[in-house]
Amino acid sequence: ASSSAAAGDADAPSQPNHRIKISIVGAGNVGMAIAQTILTQDLADEIALVDAKPEKLRGEMLDLQHAAAFLPRVRIVSGTYYAVTAGSDLAIVTAGARQLPGETRLDLLHRNVALFRTVVPPLAQHSPDALLLVVSNPVDVLTYVAWKLSGFPPNRVLGSGTNLDSSRFRSLLADHLEVNAQDVQAYMVGEHGDSSVALWSSISIGGVPMLSSLRESDVEFEQAVLERIRKAVVGSAYEVIRLKGYTSWAIGYSVASLARSLLRNQHRIHPISLLASGFHGIPDDREVFLSLPAVLGRSGVIRIPSVQLTEEEGKRLRKSAQTLWEIQQQLGL
Ligand code: NAI
Ligand code: 2OP
Repeated sequence: ASSSAAAGDADAPSQPNHRIKISIVGAGNVGMAIAQTILTQDLADEIALVDAKPEKLRGEMLDLQHAAAFLPRVRIVSGTYYAVTAGSDLAIVTAGARQLPGETRLDLLHRNVALFRTVVPPLAQHSPDALLLVVSNPVDVLTYVAWKLSGFPPNRVLGSGTNLDSSRFRSLLADHLEVNAQDVQAYMVGEHGDSSVALWSSISIGGVPMLSSLRESDVEFEQAVLERIRKAVVGSAYEVIRLKGYTSWAIGYSVASLARSLLRNQHRIHPISLLASGFHGIPDDREVFLSLPAVLGRSGVIRIPSVQLTEEEGKRLRKSAQTLWEIQQQLGL
């Protein structure tokens, strides 16, 4: 299916001297990795940090401010209250519980839904025109929760989704093929997490479709390798959490890439969590968020381009949608 999910493609705010403000709620491992990547990539004029722990928050703010001599001029503010976020162009939510070794993302659901009830309404109230980008897990269900609680149109509420899984996928494929990951085009879609779906059929290397360019005798071997890579992608967050306790750097870069495409109106395609009703056989009346490749710009999700899914890929995607939808039913939103 191909259709527009967005309400128009408005350009950046009309004032010529508009200062870009990004708020980050949750100044933990993930929030600070995002803040640091956004700072070094010069994506904002002002960054506002919010956290429930005032001392840690002030410490993080001061530590970033002390890098001023090495960075573009950026105003960095912080507070435990939401007035500090007022007038944000982009509000990123990373607050909440994270997985302990062995826990799944879905194990965090009830703790983080309760937290979102206190975070999203004041955030939306202080920045009614912002783009809302959810990172806390389980990211797909929490993006749905943020959409419901904010009252924003669906094109302005997105989750970081499988932008990260797709980067992991591309980097493992790149290692296998001994090419640069930036020349590997490949998507993971569906749930960010255990039921994510690798789109074999759309992998291309330097513009050449991978599977269709293989000799017939190599197809089986490569498919087995790809399946190993897919499993490694799904297991990779668990491995990092077991080894260092949390993941942070890759999600920092993933979210900074989304911030750039959104705020600089880049019209780049990223797989992100969005309202997927009506796509690939997901019923129109099923309000479920999961990742599909989308064109991103200043108004958020501009368009959901058509991607070819094999029958098996479509089936897996709908199963992912069904799982997420059943979980949402327990929330009473
Ligand atoms: P963390 O424990 O280091 O940080 C969480 C922060 O949230 C803490 O500083 C805490 O004080 C703050 N917080 C708690 N309640 C709050 C509230 N009511 N208001 C404001 N701040 C509050 O955890 P970490 O490692 O930063 O992970 C954060 C979240 O991001 C987790 O849910 C984790 O699963 C998720 N995550 C998502 C990824 C993705 O790809 N979507 C990747 C990595 C992590
Ligand atoms: C990640 O994939 C844990 O969702 C987090 O890094």
